[in-house]
Amino acid sequence: MSRDLLRVSPWFPGMIEVSGVNKTFYLGDSAVHALDNINLRIEQGDYLSVMGPSGSGKSTLLNMLGLLDRPDDGSYCLNGVDTMSLNENERARLRREQIGFVFQSYHLIPRLTARENIELPLMLAGVAAKQRHAEVAVILEKLDIARRAHHLPNQLSGGERQRVAIGRSIVMKPSILLADEPTGNLDTRSGTEVTRILEDLNREGITLLVVTHDNNMGDRARRHVRMLDGAISSDHMHQQQGEADAAG
Ligand SMILES: Nc1ncnc2c1ncn2[C@@H]1O[C@H](COP(=O)(O)OP(=O)(O)OP(=O)(O)O)[C@@H](O)[C@H]1O
Ligand SMILES: [Mg+2]
Repeated sequence: MSRDLLRVSPWFPGMIEVSGVNKTFYLGDSAVHALDNINLRIEQGDYLSVMGPSGSGKSTLLNMLGLLDRPDDGSYCLNGVDTMSLNENERARLRREQIGFVFQSYHLIPRLTARENIELPLMLAGVAAKQRHAEVAVILEKLDIARRAHHLPNQLSGGERQRVAIGRSIVMKPSILLADEPTGNLDTRSGTEVTRILEDLNREGITLLVVTHDNNMGDRARRHVRMLDGAISSDHMHQQQGEADAAG
């Protein structure tokens, strides 16, 4: 597939359009309907929180949107690309170019320093060393971790690890950031800092979807999606915290 085809199609249907998606997991004799007829449209620049009880399908939805997992049926268009028709290589490429992931447990590579963890996606994409170093330097500054650039993950605090993970997730300049309980392992102060960074990125234009169990974090989003038993049980727009603060 040519690079152009992975870019925006002439008619821009919204960043994400999911319709009639199902996903069932089979374990022995039992079947779990993890996604049950999901319909979801997400516009460019949206900020959504996804909440719901444990086992309601939040991570399954996020993995499906992030092209880590394939639905059993239904359709999923990302920036005008019908992802259901892509092969694994094409999916991997779209994922690499358009999607950033942030996880509760950071998923950093233990043997690599903070700087090297952030740089890795650029290396895998074949970006030249000089450009890599320039781009990583910008991110280290932006996320206020330049002083920790040469630390290994186990020499960083939880908040610093998550900032490195965010750095890695945005180094390829994705259009969407998918975060699965990004503050789940953090104390309140580090969690607030991570939330602020994610919201700054959203204000700069990235589409942000945050799965969370934390009501305070969930309430901050502009759009609240709630899941129950694999289905979307509600989906509402709200005034965002920052907007509410500004309005007094
Ligand atoms: N790979 C898998 N194999 C079998 N069952 C799975 C698999 N992944 C998820 N499930 C099941 O699908 C359902 C939804 O799981 P999912 O991880 O999406 O829930 P969740 O809402 O993210 O929960 P939590 O809040 O605990 O993270 C659960 O019942 C889970 O056990
Ligand atoms: Mg989960």
